[in-house]
Amino acid sequence: MDINNIVSLIKDDLVQVEADLKKNLSCDVSLISRVGEYVLMSGGKRLRPVLLLLSSGLCGYSGNRHIPLASVMEFIHTATLLHDDVVDNAVIRRGNTSANSLWGNEASVLIGDYMYAKSFSVMIEDGDIRILNLLSRATTRMAEGEVLQLVKANDIEATEEDYINIITMKSAVLFSASCQTGAILANVPKEEEKALSSFGINLGIAFQLIDDSLDYTSQNEGFGKAIGADLQEGKMTLPLIQMLKKAESSERKEVIRLMENEKDIKDADLKRVIELINKYHGIEYTISRAEGYIREAKKDLEIFRDSVHRQALLTLCDFVLNRET
Ligand code: IPE
Ligand code: IPE
Ligand code: MG
Ligand code: MG
Repeated sequence: MDINNIVSLIKDDLVQVEADLKKNLSCDVSLISRVGEYVLMSGGKRLRPVLLLLSSGLCGYSGNRHIPLASVMEFIHTATLLHDDVVDNAVIRRGNTSANSLWGNEASVLIGDYMYAKSFSVMIEDGDIRILNLLSRATTRMAEGEVLQLVKANDIEATEEDYINIITMKSAVLFSASCQTGAILANVPKEEEKALSSFGINLGIAFQLIDDSLDYTSQNEGFGKAIGADLQEGKMTLPLIQMLKKAESSERKEVIRLMENEKDIKDADLKRVIELINKYHGIEYTISRAEGYIREAKKDLEIFRDSVHRQALLTLCDFVLNRET
């Protein structure tokens, strides 16, 4: 099975999700529809909706509540991206000029708020307190993660444990909630719900580990983000943490000096940091950690009997490891 098989397996549902996303953006305040459509329609892998659809399929769900809830996951994700790009001063998102660059920080923050609020009204309409409970906890943890990342920015003492903690909160928790929602919809036994929740955490951590490697290595236009952005933003990601751990004291000092000069990391500085990351195998190490989490994710699926949906989720695991965009 490959990624195209996954898409064709849930193709009809995905068409409905797209329509639903558009519907949620229709609003009397035209700036909301304009900015919202710009961000939502400019691509994006739709991973979180895909996870919800596949998980609900895996659990044998056969109603139609999965459509609005899948679009809720993408709405929440997009809200965090709008906010994240303001915080990170990002200029490119999904291969296009970022919304904050085009419309300003104010519009991005407010429209992100709109998307968050709208997500919760869709969930209220659905009316399942278990899903509301899950998603209100998840969004709270995501915000905590982003704040913790802010606190740890430029902290060269940050450890791998700090980092895993941050990415679990800021990214993996939404992957997990997307999978768990599929299980809740189908009313499966608690054990299966827990397995899907854990699958989402492991997959989400691996996803962010790869994203943070690609931030240093990507040569692919399709990645749609600027290279070296994490260093520029003072983000202590694993390739950097691992390099600092292994580097000689003079090299460590060199990197610290360069990072102290925040806001003005030059191309030559980035090149030097990449050289050191390569010297100390920071990328290989990060990828090997991602492989470890993917192995755990695959184990989480062992309690489910084999099915096309299970195969699709396993394929998605490999896609996350091998992705270039
Ligand atoms: C970007 O997520 C933010 C991270 C968690 C790294 P995605 O890579 O899933 O973003 P889109 O939706 O495909 O643009
Ligand atoms: C991921 O953080 C965004 C959220 C989960 C809110 P990053 O800042 O690492 O994501 P990119 O690299 O901007 O997509
Ligand atoms: Mg960012
Ligand atoms: Mg990133």
